[in-house]
Amino acid sequence: MEYNKIKTVGVLTSGGDAPGMNAAIRAVTRAAIGQGIRVKAIYRGYKGLIDGEVVEFSTQDVSGIIQRGGTILKSARCKEFQTPEGRQQAYETILKEQIDALIVIGGDGTFTGGRLFAQEYDVPVIGLPGTIDNDLWGTDATIGYDTSLSTITECIDKLRDTATSHERVFLVEVMGRNAGFLTLNAAIAGGCEAAIIPERASVKEQLEDAIGNGRRKSKNSSIVLVQEHAVEGGAKTVAEMIEKEHPEYSTRVTVLGHLQRGGSPTAYDRILASRMGAAAIQALQDGQRNVMIGIQNDDIVLVPLSKAIHQKKDIKEDSWQALQTLSI
Ligand code: F6P
Repeated sequence: MEYNKIKTVGVLTSGGDAPGMNAAIRAVTRAAIGQGIRVKAIYRGYKGLIDGEVVEFSTQDVSGIIQRGGTILKSARCKEFQTPEGRQQAYETILKEQIDALIVIGGDGTFTGGRLFAQEYDVPVIGLPGTIDNDLWGTDATIGYDTSLSTITECIDKLRDTATSHERVFLVEVMGRNAGFLTLNAAIAGGCEAAIIPERASVKEQLEDAIGNGRRKSKNSSIVLVQEHAVEGGAKTVAEMIEKEHPEYSTRVTVLGHLQRGGSPTAYDRILASRMGAAAIQALQDGQRNVMIGIQNDDIVLVPLSKAIHQKKDIKEDSWQALQTLSI
């Protein structure tokens, strides 16, 4: 296949939804049609590719969605696509719909499946990083991360009122899969006493710091953010640890859950998604394949999917230090 002769692209969203995915779908659709490329929208992620849930989009089909959270294409985590039979069926849809290239919007699992499919069936795949977790290597930010961070910060502000009024220790459980970006940066933004994240010291050590920070003379309450997988059992376990060691403290647990994934995307996420969506079409026009569109120092970059998936993105040490310094 000549990769600069792409006539039709397929676009799908897969994995956990993230605010800004709609802005990305809009950008891909309009950028493609603007360059004379047809757009086939695939519903329900890879499941829809297997089942042939495909609809051709016009520019009007993506009107009025830039401000909407979630994904108009729906999303799913598809086990079938992890099997050779599932991918074979997906390829049959690609042939039937005459799709020349795929743009997949999602996170780690989405890219893993897309990369395998690209290798097996020689279909160019471009990934757009859409996940609240911000855990993909090669991009400073993922679509949805900024919105989620703002949502979490807003929740912390509300909890602060009660924590202060009742002199309590609040343990707030934050999402992030295996990464602590949301937890650490929300802790900084929310002026929290500590963040317990998988990337740093033992929970016990982090807890001692948290208690120490929150119970200094002039403070009568604490908010500690706990990354969902930093400790087995999450924030509840941490609360139990505190109450056991310090029975004088009254603890409360708040699990933010899927509240962190919804809502209207921030301006930053809309702009990021729009730039990345347009860049995906440009990348295909330039003959690129099997890359993720990333952003580094405000420049769009192309990152091999293999690196985006396999290399570990670490949290910023200065951010970690800033939290320790500022939470005294
Ligand atoms: O990857 C996004 C994410 O929200 C993670 O932060 C979280 O661990 C996971 O998805 C939750 O998945 P589900 O919505 O399938 O429960």
